[in-house]
Amino acid sequence: MTPVRIGIAGLGTVGGGLLEMMAAGGPLAGAVSLSGICARDRARKRAVDVSAVPWFDDPVALATAPDVDVFVELMGGADGPAKAAVEAALRAGKAVVSANKALLAEHGEALAHLARESGAQLRWEAAVAGGIPAVKVLREGLAANRVQAVAGVLNGTCNYILTEMDRTGRAFAEVLADAQQLGYAEADPTLDVSGADAGHKLALLAAVAFTGTPDFGGVALEGIAAVEPVDLETARFLGYRVKLVARAARTGAGITQSVRPTLLPADHPIARIDGPLNAVVIDAEPVGRLVLTGRGAGAGPTASAVAADLMDLAFGDVRPVFAGPADLMADPAATATAVAVPSRFYVRLRVADRPGVIAAITDLVARHGISIESFLQRPPEPGATSVPIILTTKPCPEAELRAAIAELAGTDVLLGTPLVMPVESA
Ligand SMILES: NC(=O)c1ccc[n+]([C@@H]2O[C@H](COP(=O)([O-])OP(=O)(O)OC[C@H]3O[C@@H](n4cnc5c(N)ncnc54)[C@H](OP(=O)(O)O)[C@@H]3O)[C@@H](O)[C@H]2O)c1
Repeated sequence: MTPVRIGIAGLGTVGGGLLEMMAAGGPLAGAVSLSGICARDRARKRAVDVSAVPWFDDPVALATAPDVDVFVELMGGADGPAKAAVEAALRAGKAVVSANKALLAEHGEALAHLARESGAQLRWEAAVAGGIPAVKVLREGLAANRVQAVAGVLNGTCNYILTEMDRTGRAFAEVLADAQQLGYAEADPTLDVSGADAGHKLALLAAVAFTGTPDFGGVALEGIAAVEPVDLETARFLGYRVKLVARAARTGAGITQSVRPTLLPADHPIARIDGPLNAVVIDAEPVGRLVLTGRGAGAGPTASAVAADLMDLAFGDVRPVFAGPADLMADPAATATAVAVPSRFYVRLRVADRPGVIAAITDLVARHGISIESFLQRPPEPGATSVPIILTTKPCPEAELRAAIAELAGTDVLLGTPLVMPVESA
């Protein structure tokens, strides 16, 4: 193996983890040699002593430096310096390794185009599920399979918050504040709790599994802020757990992509993934179901994925940026947009505490052709004038369910905003 000469832009959590791995010796140290580094603040103390490594203030200059074969982008951000530097490297025909899911999910198609034009490699294992080699499994191990669905718990922050809410019965805002103090959530948690971060990762996984191009705009996004302790408690009572599930699936009418809080049977492999862990479940033919779990973030696990890409490049491995086999692009399912697939649903309504309300709700859903599977009235919360009603449905189109709820919203029965979550089977 000829060591590849690398330039690393971004020396924070992931960049620092990579420097530590290189300093620790082992296979990575033999596969790469460090030609240059770049970050914002030259004076900042780094994970290892890098005072002897050539410093670049400008990531684009590092990306195009003559003694850099592989540009390692670990700065972050969908646009700005990360995008400019990755584009410059690819245009110059240099390989790029990046952990930047926002950049790849939002500009992946254009970057893949640039890479194809110049014949450069663009690798991004670390952008999805940190230390779990999900991209490799899909792209290489399952290259000859037909993937039916790829689903996962892809955001450790949301999983930690939901796990803690479930464990302690505390509200979302309280647990989020704790997660921020513990460093499990960013000061601005919007990207995580809105589902967008998981959506970026899902769009990337779906590109490899199905479509050949990430379509982040096609991911239906719903975050976890509306989930309440009563939902987690009721889900448990019914034999389920609530997780923020990112799911892309092949359906009769096309590929669906969604990130939303979802009820999973308690014995479903993803239901058991707690705290900051990630999981990816792949259903494919002929292999069947694969379940991958592990640490989805942090210096070591993420650097491990970056290192794997670097070692592949050192071995001369050549892969397309997203799609596996070329015939993926010709799959008619790959071009269809998301469709509403009938599903079972969990619905939490807060309703006026008075006679006749339950009959009004059951009449209404029956008029919309929706069959109820279970119906529970929970005790009113202290000081509340409303009572939570929870129902689960048999499979129905979500649009019909939403229409029924919209009709209810026009009456004085419904108080507050309802929560609708899909209920998955095993
Ligand atoms: N952290 C994780 O667990 C994790 C997991 C998977 C993927 N990722 C992805 O990995 C990437 C890096 O994340 P991170 O957590 O390591 O971020 P981080 O700790 O905030 O580090 C970012 C690094 O980029 C440098 N940087 C920022 N803007 C720059 C600019 N304009 N020019 C030069 N350098 C600049 C910073 O310089 P200074 O140090 O001088 O401020 C810092 O060294 C992101 O795309 C992230 O989404 C992270």
